[in-house]
Amino acid sequence: MTESSSGTRSLSRLNAIQEGPRKKFKITFLPSGQSVEGGPVTGEEHHDGLPGSVLDFALKHGLALDHACGGFAACSTCHVIVREGLETCNEVSDDEDEMLDGAPGLTLRSRLACQCVADGSKDLVVEIPAWNRNLAKEDH
Ligand code: FES
Repeated sequence: MTESSSGTRSLSRLNAIQEGPRKKFKITFLPSGQSVEGGPVTGEEHHDGLPGSVLDFALKHGLALDHACGGFAACSTCHVIVREGLETCNEVSDDEDEMLDGAPGLTLRSRLACQCVADGSKDLVVEIPAWNRNLAKEDH
């Protein structure tokens, strides 16, 4: 990777956390295969977690992903594994990193759904860990 493309990627990740996704994209949750749409966020659309986070879009579309602290990076109940598109997501903050340290089944692709904000340049595939699957259910 060249220095300028690395700089572009860093800027893209910074924009993701500051502005949320800049265009529509798809988040597919495993193992159910249920997909929800992400995209630019307005204040009225925001649910829990950072605006435009994986948790925010899951809740918007009725997927009840567990989130015990309300999306403030103060627990690890919203732990997910980003199987595809992780490179389009914001950097892990110190608070998120600290909470992930205590999450069961931690992987190198683990994120807190409430803190994970993609820039929208790629679709995401997000696995809900097995220990948490019985807590994630659709609200219809
Ligand atoms: Fe508690 Fe995400 S809901 S850390």
